[in-house]
Amino acid sequence: MIMASGNGSNFEAIVKASREGILKANVRNLIVDRSCYAEERARRLGIPCIKLGRKWVEELEQVLDELRPSLVVLAGFMRIIPERIVRKWRWKIINIHPSLLPAFPGMHAIEKAYKHGVKVTGITVHFVDEGVDTGPIILQKAIEVDPRWTLDDLEGKIHEIEHAWYPRIIQTILNGRWYVEGRRVVIEEYTG
Ligand code: GRF
Repeated sequence: MIMASGNGSNFEAIVKASREGILKANVRNLIVDRSCYAEERARRLGIPCIKLGRKWVEELEQVLDELRPSLVVLAGFMRIIPERIVRKWRWKIINIHPSLLPAFPGMHAIEKAYKHGVKVTGITVHFVDEGVDTGPIILQKAIEVDPRWTLDDLEGKIHEIEHAWYPRIIQTILNGRWYVEGRRVVIEEYTG
């Protein structure tokens, strides 16, 4: 199950990876919390989309209990998952963030990193915990920032590595050859 609130490019990359056999799992549903372009993509790709309403927390709890997804993949979902859902679904919810956490958590991470003038930035995939972008890190990929790049250039590069790596690390997590030691996620075998 994928959850999004915006453009949905990661959602589409994951669906495509599953159709191309790079990811050996089916994306059964897209969950959105607002009208967004991701819905449009779901229609085009033939993935059933569930739109959460004003009581989104209760609705999400119900959807999770009914569908019991093997993994909940946040891909630009713009809300904080409440503690009781995190506790119930611990190690089952992952998120992608467009910076090398713990640098630049929260919104507008690419822009913040760009404006800060960083030489290196990247992406982080992590388990969702009770904080904002604080959960145990599963994967990070770094890129060097060319000082001639515009913010748009950097955004393009970040999305490129997100689309390439998110499906692969989802496969790794689904395969189950990993464990957690304190804050450390130990991957015994990478797949994909
Ligand atoms: C991505 O940059 C992701 O890291 C962040 O939100 C953005 C979503 O992009 N959490 P998209 O909606 O998948 O295009």
